[in-house]
Amino acid sequence: MKTQVGIIGAGPAGLMLSHLLHLHGIDSVILESRSRQYVEGRVRAGVLDSDVSRLFQVTGIGDRMMREGIEQEQMEIRFEGKQRFINWFQLAGGRKNMIYGQQEVVRDLIERRLRDDGRILFDAEAHSIDGAGTDRPSIRFRCNGEDATLACDFIAACDGFHGIGRQAIPPDRIRLYEHKYPFAWLGIVACAQPSSPWLVTAAHDRGYAMQSMRSLQVSRNYIQIALEDTLEDWPDARIWDELHQRLDIPGWTLREGEIVEKAKFDLRSFVCEPMQYGRMFLAGDAAHVVPPTGGRGLNQAIADVCVLADGIRDFYRDASEEELNRYSSICLERVWHAQQFTWRQTSMLQRHDFGNEYIRKQQLAQLEYFTSNKAAATSLAECYAGSRLRTSF
Ligand code: FAD
Ligand code: DHB
Repeated sequence: MKTQVGIIGAGPAGLMLSHLLHLHGIDSVILESRSRQYVEGRVRAGVLDSDVSRLFQVTGIGDRMMREGIEQEQMEIRFEGKQRFINWFQLAGGRKNMIYGQQEVVRDLIERRLRDDGRILFDAEAHSIDGAGTDRPSIRFRCNGEDATLACDFIAACDGFHGIGRQAIPPDRIRLYEHKYPFAWLGIVACAQPSSPWLVTAAHDRGYAMQSMRSLQVSRNYIQIALEDTLEDWPDARIWDELHQRLDIPGWTLREGEIVEKAKFDLRSFVCEPMQYGRMFLAGDAAHVVPPTGGRGLNQAIADVCVLADGIRDFYRDASEEELNRYSSICLERVWHAQQFTWRQTSMLQRHDFGNEYIRKQQLAQLEYFTSNKAAATSLAECYAGSRLRTSF
């Protein structure tokens, strides 16, 4: 099998790259190890930056998002009985974020790629890459019990943190930076009306909690839990009890409903430098991971593939490799900014002092500063509104 760009992974990065390349008139094939049903059902991110939702609209995949998504102008941070608002619409140039589940983004992109005769091979696991450092790279994969090879001009490894793309780079050609956090998140989806139509986070003495949503009828809530906890430690009643203790304030009670999804997430910060090796490019979680605090991961993945799609377009249209050669350095500046923001938000909002009151006091002073000082709140609002996309669309 042959194509111009071989893409590993049908997550947001791989699907969006394939869509943008198609709009540039460039052929691609996506190899995805899981089934279509599995990737369309995987509950993860939920907040799109204003630039990302604009990109979806201008590239023709935003209709359902505009009908069903919920625009957000602000979020609320609660600590020590205080209620503070970070309003990015007012503080960051009239920008609005969009609540729209990652699995809906994935569904819309798959539907559109297939409508445009795009080739997505589900249940097709890439197991090795040949010639990544040459101009004739190829991907070996297994589909329907048969081994096959995809020959291409370029490889985009959009295969997530555990993917094979990054592992195919000789270790002496990359440097990995990683930080693991000493706690985890438990996330639920519940058939319950959100109690506020905006995100509510609590930096409570008992630990972090968040009320987010997927629609005006479906809540998405998170709580910080111990790293060693398992889902068996968290029956539904205990989750609701803990959410109430951390989030409720006089006059405001978190609404409960049937829990239809429950998962534990470890928190990690990770960057691979550079994000390219010869004709292979890493994008999204394959190259960098952030903890979910701050809602950056999916947005970063989309930002990467915007740069990559334009670089590949320049290669075919102008015979120019300038943008492609700079892919890594262009992306990494934004990536490290997001790393810094999410690391700071995680440190500021999660309980991680393990009894050291000095650290807790530092955290509360930082929260007070970022939510009451206008310059600091403006900086925070800009970070929540997201980085500006570098794209020709
Ligand atoms: P993935 O979505 O991981 O996709 C990679 C794909 O590659 C997968 O489909 C996988 O099956 C496939 N694959 C892997 N190996 C192979 C192989 N060998 N062969 C073929 N296919 C392969 N981000 C935000 O921006 N906003 C948020 O609000 C937010 N909230 C989050 C909340 C939680 C609880 C979590 C866990 C994450 C959150 N994120 C958020 C992060 C976001 O979900 C990820 O950053 C995003 O999924 C990255 O997309 P991706 O396409 O790079 O990788
Ligand atoms: C979600 C929202 C966030 O702002 C965040 O930081 C993590 C997750 C969500 O809605 O899933």
